[in-house]
Amino acid sequence: MFRVGFGEDAHRLVSGRPLVIGGVTIASERGSEAHSDGDVLLHALSDALLSTFALGDIGQLFPPGKADTAGLASDVILAAVREQLFAGQAAGWSLVNIAAVVTLDQPKLGTYRTVIQERVTALLSVPAGRVGVTFKTSEGLALDHVQARVTVLLQRSF
Ligand code: C5P
Ligand code: MG
Repeated sequence: MFRVGFGEDAHRLVSGRPLVIGGVTIASERGSEAHSDGDVLLHALSDALLSTFALGDIGQLFPPGKADTAGLASDVILAAVREQLFAGQAAGWSLVNIAAVVTLDQPKLGTYRTVIQERVTALLSVPAGRVGVTFKTSEGLALDHVQARVTVLLQRSF
């Protein structure tokens, strides 16, 4: 009747790269060092979705380091995962809600919460109020690091 999923992702913060979280570009001096756009929230969400049906992870769909995936926007990854999942084993299942934690010391993200939640809501085609995003610092323990952890809940709707 229900299935839970969990995913995690982290990237190093470096100068000269955009910081994209949940499909939203954040004003920041540093961004994710990554082969793709380095969107930790959408990567963790994509893995969380795949994990609900033990379908492996996004590295199998989009092997890191391949030329054709360089700079790949993470909404493309998420769309491919949703297609694989909901056209396959999870046909007839629906997404109840997602809960995400982003850990980042700087910049503060509180002013971006609404736009990130709305963007992820749109990417997932779920009703409003189903995507909860919270922010934490590492208390200075991981200053060069952006990380996301995401849980998802699926419900069988047949
Ligand atoms: O990590 P800490 O408990 O000190 O974070 C306190 C609060 O700061 C969080 O609850 C969150 O509201 C906010 N925060 C934020 N952006 C971050 C990190 C934390 O808005 N990058
Ligand atoms: Mg605290």
